[in-house]
Order: sequence, then C-alpha cells, then structure tokens
Amino acid sequence: MHFTGYLAIHDFSQELEKEFELRCVKIHEKKDRFYLVEGDGPDLIWAQMTARNLETIEITSINDGVKKLKERGRNWGLFTVANHRRAQLIQDELPKFNTKPIPFRHPLPEKPMGFWTLWDTNIILASQTTSSPFALGEMDFQEDKVMPPSRAYLKLWEFFTVYAPEALNGGTSIDVGSCPGGWTWVLRTLEFDKTVSVDKAPIENRIMNMGKIEFRKESAFGLDPKDFGEIEWFCSDIICYPERLLTLVKKFLAAGTVKNFVCTIKYQAETDWENTLKFLEIPGSRIVHLHHNKHEVTWFLKGVKA
Ligand SMILES: C[S@@+](CC[C@H](N)C(=O)[O-])C[C@H]1O[C@@H](n2cnc3c(N)ncnc32)[C@H](O)[C@@H]1O
Repeated sequence: MHFTGYLAIHDFSQELEKEFELRCVKIHEKKDRFYLVEGDGPDLIWAQMTARNLETIEITSINDGVKKLKERGRNWGLFTVANHRRAQLIQDELPKFNTKPIPFRHPLPEKPMGFWTLWDTNIILASQTTSSPFALGEMDFQEDKVMPPSRAYLKLWEFFTVYAPEALNGGTSIDVGSCPGGWTWVLRTLEFDKTVSVDKAPIENRIMNMGKIEFRKESAFGLDPKDFGEIEWFCSDIICYPERLLTLVKKFLAAGTVKNFVCTIKYQAETDWENTLKFLEIPGSRIVHLHHNKHEVTWFLKGVKA
C-alpha cells in the first residue's frame, strides 16, 4: 500500500477537508495539517504541497535517518508533525539548499525538492515526487518596494513565474479590477504592445505614465469583448462574487477572442464551492491556491486559441 500526502495551507485545513469530501477521497490519517490518503490521490486546490509515492522508512537513530534520506535524494523540505526537535536534528545534517527570495520570472529550480516528516519517533515518511520545486511549496520574491502600488502584484508575479513561464509575444493584455494598478504594472513590465486597464476607480498616475496603457473608468461587467480584438491575456483581480466573475469569463470565452485567462476567485466568509466547481468545469482550466493568495484562489486557462 502506498500513500499520497497533502499539506494543507495554513489556516485552510477545513477547506482541504471539504475538498476531500467533495472529491470522495477518504482521509487515512491526519497529523497537524498533514493528511495521508491511500494510493494516488488527485491534485487538490487547497493543498500547499502534495507528496506522492510516500515511502515509510524505519530508522534506528538520528544518523540513520540522515543516511537514509541522503541515499534517496539531495534536497528535503521538512514539515514536523511531532518529535520536532529530533526531526530538526536530522534536517540540520542534510545538505543545505537555496531558500533565498527569487526575482520575477526566475527559472524554476531544476533539482527535485523532496518532502519528509518524522511520523513517529523511528518512522520517516518521505517523498521525492512533490508538487512543487520549492520546499513545502513556499516561495518568496525579491520584492519591488518602489513601483507597485499594492502587494497584489505578487500573485501575478507568482503566476507568471511558476504557471506561465513561457515567452510572451506582444499583443494586448487586459486587466479588470485594476485599481490601484499592481497587476497593470506587472503586465506593463512584460512584452505586451498594449494593456487595457479597467476599474471604476483610477489607477495611480505613476503607473499610467509608463505608457502603452489604455485606462477605462467603468464597470468590467459592462465590457463588450468586440471592443478589444484579440486578447493575449485576460486578467482579473476584481472584488466580486464568484458567480459574477464566472459570467464575465464566459462572455469573453464565448467571444472566442481570448487566448489565456488568469483570474482571482475571491470569497466572502465562506468558500463558494458551487461556483468554484463551475469554473473547474471549463475544459482545460485549473485552479490553484498560490502561495500569495489569501482566502481566494486562482483560476487559469491557457492556449484557448492556439
Ligand atoms: C483587490 S483590488 C485589485 C488590486 C489590483 N489587482 C492591484 O494589483 O493593484 C479589486 C478591485 O476591483 C475593483 N472592482 C470592483 N467591482 C468592479 C467592477 N464592477 N468593475 C471594475 N472593477 C471593479 C475595485 O474597484 C478594486 O479596485
């Protein structure tokens, strides 16, 4: 019997448990915010990191643990569920790896990033097949503290670094719900010929002054896709009910003029599962919880018009 391990996002264990239930996945065992399920589990939105093909390794001592992990791989991210000090003593003897913040669009680490935990005093669970090249799926950027007018830009930085690192080829991008201008700033630093920025409130002047930005002071929900021609990237960070965003996305999808979408689905007090699942029904799309998302997730669809 082999297991898949899921590390829930801090403060969102309930969401992960609900997702297990909705996907009919039975939890075999749980410690802290780490969950074990039997066999090959699905990719889940609210998992910060998924560890596949978990191996159960018996150890006789700290040195034995270090030796057995080193035999299996170089880089190991540790999440402790118990025996914290003993686990840390093992981690301290494993090879060090780079955890420094990275620049925007920096190539992703090529070496596999393993995961391990000390499940019991003498039992290690370890996987070299994890869902992220970063330890426990956590990544940080060398932030720009000068230009972006809000920290929302970090979500788009993470998205274009991790999920859409391919080269961009000019064309038009559109940013709806753009004020004060963090996402518009990111799009403006990429190779688009034009960025259309839409909000009922203006974006900051220093972003407008970068040029190649067409600002529209209006509601995104009244936009007519016919006014924009071909769109390379449709980006939305609008604060609105998921249902309204879904209607907007479907309008642009139906127009057949958008190649790629990336949209934040924002929740009120409760996670809106009904509409989240409707987004997932759009063929070829994915939903992830970015490291820089809070109580919100990121829906994306790439290559609609090849
Ligand atoms: C989280 S903020 C966006 C932050 C932005 N992405 C950034 O990086 O600076 C959400 C924005 O959605 C906008 N918004 C809400 N309803 C809207 C609508 N109907 N049309 C356009 N924008 C809307 C709000 O005015 C607000 O500026």
